[in-house]
Amino acid sequence: MKIITDPLELKEYLKEVAKEHTIGFVPTMGALHEGHTSLIKRAKNENDFVVVSIFVNPTQFLKGEDLEKYPRRDEADKKICTLSGVDVLFFPQASDMYGDDEVSLQAPHVRGYILEGTTRPGHFNGVLTVVMKLLNIVSPTRAYFGKKDAQQLNLITLMAKQLFMSAEIVAVDTVRESDGLARSSRNVYLTSAERQEALKISASLYMASKMVAQKSLDSHAITSKMREILEPLEVAYVEVVSRDFVPLQEVQIGNSIILVEAKVGSTRLLDNIWI
Ligand code: PAJ
Repeated sequence: MKIITDPLELKEYLKEVAKEHTIGFVPTMGALHEGHTSLIKRAKNENDFVVVSIFVNPTQFLKGEDLEKYPRRDEADKKICTLSGVDVLFFPQASDMYGDDEVSLQAPHVRGYILEGTTRPGHFNGVLTVVMKLLNIVSPTRAYFGKKDAQQLNLITLMAKQLFMSAEIVAVDTVRESDGLARSSRNVYLTSAERQEALKISASLYMASKMVAQKSLDSHAITSKMREILEPLEVAYVEVVSRDFVPLQEVQIGNSIILVEAKVGSTRLLDNIWI
């Protein structure tokens, strides 16, 4: 596996590769887990050449968030990428990616400022800006994102379409621990007692899918029941939206996502289920 830290060097290198190969790209912030490796596997299956980036992007963290303590596992991550058959690992520093007085993207005013955009206003500006930069550096045939971060996936898909970008954005299912907890780099922050409490999040979503299976489609009824299960966690939101992130009064089977953000101790956890 080749490791490249300089954006322009990577761009030049991949220009040659792209002449004869399809390129699959998996952007990450490292502390790799099975959620990330499932994206890498999918990229390997569908492309000749796979690029992974590891960059803890400062512009998507708000003041007071966990940028400084975000888990960094550089050596372990490199091993995981090598074992997963990654061809190139892009590992830039913040100074390689950002300068002074930067051009940046603005998340859409409606879809970018509901749910996660309410709890983290401005977060998606940083996400879209860095993903745009990464996609311009790598110019992949396909780029892979997890459904776990459903709103991020929706906004990136929208960006690619609205800005006429050429990469195909591929959505990958959420990978969970055997007890249901969605895998996340932030799970390492949880104490063992908090980890038990965190199971209420996936349990609330399983309850929601059970209600839908029993034809109980009213969004308020579903989210009320979920809030009961989530107690005493501090819930930031529980919402039913369409796949296009329009809030729904009633679940539409095949076009809905039910999302939760809750705080367990001081850790914010996201999860959702696609219905
Ligand atoms: P990060 O949190 O490292 O996630 C990288 C990718 O892995 C994202 O597309 C995310 O949705 C996916 N992912 C995380 N947990 C997953 C799980 N349990 N199952 C399936 N996929 C999962 O998301 C980011 O980084 C950043 O915002 C980034 C897009 C890299 C921009 O900085």
